[in-house]
Amino acid sequence: MTTVLTSLRQETVISNAPDQELKSLQKLSPNQQLLPLTAVVNANDHLEIGGCDVVDLVSQYGSPLYILDEMSLRTACQQYRDALVKHYQGQSQVLYASKAWSCLAVCAIAGSEGLGIDVVSAGEILTATRAGVSPSLIYFHGNNKSLDELTYALESGCTIVVDNWHELKNLDRLAREQADLPSFVAPRIMLRLTPGIECHTHEYIRTGHIDSKFGFDPNEVESVFAFLADSLLNCIGIHAHIGSQIFELQPHQDIGGVMVQWFKLAGDKYGLNFSELNIGGGLGIRYVESDDPPSIEEWVKAVSAGVTEAFVSAGLALPKLLCEPGRSLVGATCITAYTIGGSKTVPDIRTYVTIDGGMSDNPRPITYQSQYRAVVANTMSAPLSQTVTIAGKHCESGDILIKDIQLPQTNAGDILVVFGTGAYNYSMASNYNRLPKPAAVVVADGEASLIIKRETREDLLRQDCLPEKLRK
Ligand code: LLP
Repeated sequence: MTTVLTSLRQETVISNAPDQELKSLQKLSPNQQLLPLTAVVNANDHLEIGGCDVVDLVSQYGSPLYILDEMSLRTACQQYRDALVKHYQGQSQVLYASKAWSCLAVCAIAGSEGLGIDVVSAGEILTATRAGVSPSLIYFHGNNKSLDELTYALESGCTIVVDNWHELKNLDRLAREQADLPSFVAPRIMLRLTPGIECHTHEYIRTGHIDSKFGFDPNEVESVFAFLADSLLNCIGIHAHIGSQIFELQPHQDIGGVMVQWFKLAGDKYGLNFSELNIGGGLGIRYVESDDPPSIEEWVKAVSAGVTEAFVSAGLALPKLLCEPGRSLVGATCITAYTIGGSKTVPDIRTYVTIDGGMSDNPRPITYQSQYRAVVANTMSAPLSQTVTIAGKHCESGDILIKDIQLPQTNAGDILVVFGTGAYNYSMASNYNRLPKPAAVVVADGEASLIIKRETREDLLRQDCLPEKLRK
């Protein structure tokens, strides 16, 4: 018999549901859950995800291990897609912001659910196309795309979200150079504009305010439109992204009202007929109990209402509405399993419990002071009997994964599972201290499949060169 995990406290996770209904799980918004949707405690008192015992997965694939729940990811994709169909009368397209986790398997799952992909580098373009996503659904972002990347993106057939004058002029030049070729197709672009919308999130992940490195400043919009009217570029619309890990609905609902004025101006004064509006991503997820993000459907409903109201009042046809969530698609679908090593008690201060990973596989706590939740996966019903600090293994005092968490008694070899590690963990992972990057598996219906191989020690030397004069 299994037990569905409804709460994080190890001893209170119990809510018997032997007939755990898949359909009712799929109604939960994955971004509001601490755990992947399929998380249960099995008869061995172990945490199980996607029908796979986490402790067994670690024995088979090694530690640390990223474990991605396919059902949670597909559910999140479907909820975005279905909510847009339900709440927005115009056409729509969800793009997965692959910076959250760019790898073949995640892009392939998103693609198979009908999502396009937002990419920010040639590497992410390559990943998305190799995963089988049609270039017509790939949108290329970034505030300093190189000429090489722009050329590659154009050749691949992606849409380019132009961020600044330098890029706009480069693209125009590339287009003019090719204009006489019989194969010439006008580059499909969008413009990223800074909407001047403030939101409450960590300052490093806020992007929509005026003092941002991204996008054209509102003062420049008219001259950009004038330039476009005279260019060979095919500008299909405008884009804004205001930030990440946002719990308020209002700032996202306001985007439509800000963007519509530029849509109208482009058409009325410059003869530019935009058809697409991309309102970015940014919906937050629940990392700890006190986080309370809106559901995917509530978010889609709010942005759809904002855009619809703005366009109807301006007398404009509804644009094709694009959004590009990353974290809220993949964040809660993955956990990281670590093996506990030793511990150190500083009397009257704290006990450190060490794990075999840390800031190299999850740089978010040291970068943004992000909070995480964890359990000991091999003793799920054990009482929470100690408050400890989870220390990573890097040579850096700040490499603390979780401060002051309640756990059962732990022993070396226990498996610590940290939740909510699907977004911006693997994608921001490093080899700091020459640690090999962990493996990742996707789990579904009791089966696990490797999606990222564990790096080996030899892999770490793959790019190193030892000049002849330094050889002994
Ligand atoms: N679109 C654009 C243009 C973006 O810059 C981003 C995120 C997204 C979409 C996706 O946002 P999301 O739905 O994931 O919030 N490394 C940071 C997050 C950086 C977000 C960068 N841009 C973190 O770990 O919190």
